[in-house]
Amino acid sequence: MPAADKLTVERVLVRARSGSYDALCGQGALDRAHREVQRLGPFTGVFLLSSPRVWKIWGRKLRTFSQGIGVQEIVLFDDREASKHLGTVESICRQLIRCGADRRALLLALGGGVVGDVAGFAAASYLRGVSLVHVPTTVVAQVDSAIGGKTGVNLPEGKNLVGAFYPPRLVLVDPRFLRTLPDREYRSGLYEVIKYGAIVDPALFSLLERDLDKLLRRDPRTLATVISRCIRAKARVVSCDERESGLREILNFGHTLAHALESLTRYRRYLHGEAVAWGMIFCAALSETSSLARSTEVARLVRLILRVGPLPPLPRVSAAELLSAMRADKKSRRGRVRFVLAHKIGKVSVGHEPTNAQVARAWVRLQEDRLLNWPKSLTSSPRWRA
Ligand code: NAD
Ligand code: GLY
Repeated sequence: MPAADKLTVERVLVRARSGSYDALCGQGALDRAHREVQRLGPFTGVFLLSSPRVWKIWGRKLRTFSQGIGVQEIVLFDDREASKHLGTVESICRQLIRCGADRRALLLALGGGVVGDVAGFAAASYLRGVSLVHVPTTVVAQVDSAIGGKTGVNLPEGKNLVGAFYPPRLVLVDPRFLRTLPDREYRSGLYEVIKYGAIVDPALFSLLERDLDKLLRRDPRTLATVISRCIRAKARVVSCDERESGLREILNFGHTLAHALESLTRYRRYLHGEAVAWGMIFCAALSETSSLARSTEVARLVRLILRVGPLPPLPRVSAAELLSAMRADKKSRRGRVRFVLAHKIGKVSVGHEPTNAQVARAWVRLQEDRLLNWPKSLTSSPRWRA
């Protein structure tokens, strides 16, 4: 692990029904792992769960860390979205049995959102639940999936359809991991960062407007500030509504369209954050036509999203096909498609059910690039396959 710059490590408390936990965030968070894990114990064994890809990049650099916390066994599994299924959970649990992991074992999930969701669900179900520590290594995992206790896997019928709310005992968020993240993965995570500004944190949004270029260069200080702000925002939301019975739904801003885009393109065209970016632009258009948000607020959101970089183009599907894909989402109720819509930067509300005609109009507007007249080159770069 490269040496940490002299930046502070922050402790954020996340409340959960079955026990609150800390998220330690900042450069150097990982260097505190030994002491922090000791405080949670004792454990009969520490089992590190990761993917071959993450371990290949980080395994050697983490030797001191692994020895420090006494990792007994390393269990690697494929972290492609296609492998996020029950078969992988079964294989992990069987390996844990063979390694002698008992009820007082600690599982340490090192990786992106896929590793965290799969390892988290394994921790929730193995011997009816063993302790879990998340060490997230992507932007998405650091600002979103490692916080809040959602774990789970996909079924052939859809994403994240089997899972559990299973809070970790600790989350160690060290932005140094992001130095090796491929550019497209990194940018995709930034859309989720923008989401926090748009839904609950107008000051974060202004900071992003000012410092986006630094963030795109992965400036350590900016990155540390932004990540810890996102974690605090997520912690506030999930501490109030762990089981998504109200407030937590705001985190789904942009996700109604995003999930439809992902399923319409068979999960091949978009990284999740990119689909969320289109989803937020779509919601901005809907919010404006529903007279919820002023065009100046909508323009700020769309501009910031587009500054992050090019988005893969939208699929050429009709509004009827789009609506049908949206209805299949697990968040629709009685076949009605629900949206989180924006009022202004930093304020959204949940449970909006626009008419089919309104959705169709916003879709056509998006497809025709009529929102803000953004440059064609942003969506039609030859790098993106249709
Ligand atoms: P990911 O886990 O697929 O990781 C992306 C790629 O980056 C992988 O190939 C991985 O091996 C690699 N990688 C990870 N860390 C790296 C590093 N430091 N350096 C280089 N490469 C690295 O992608 P993701 O965006 O982190 O997570 C997406 C998943 O998270 C989805 O399955 C989504 O459903 C889930 N998710 C869950 C929640 C939740 O609340 N539980 C929230 C958001 C997303
Ligand atoms: N990523 C959405 C949530 O945690 O609820």
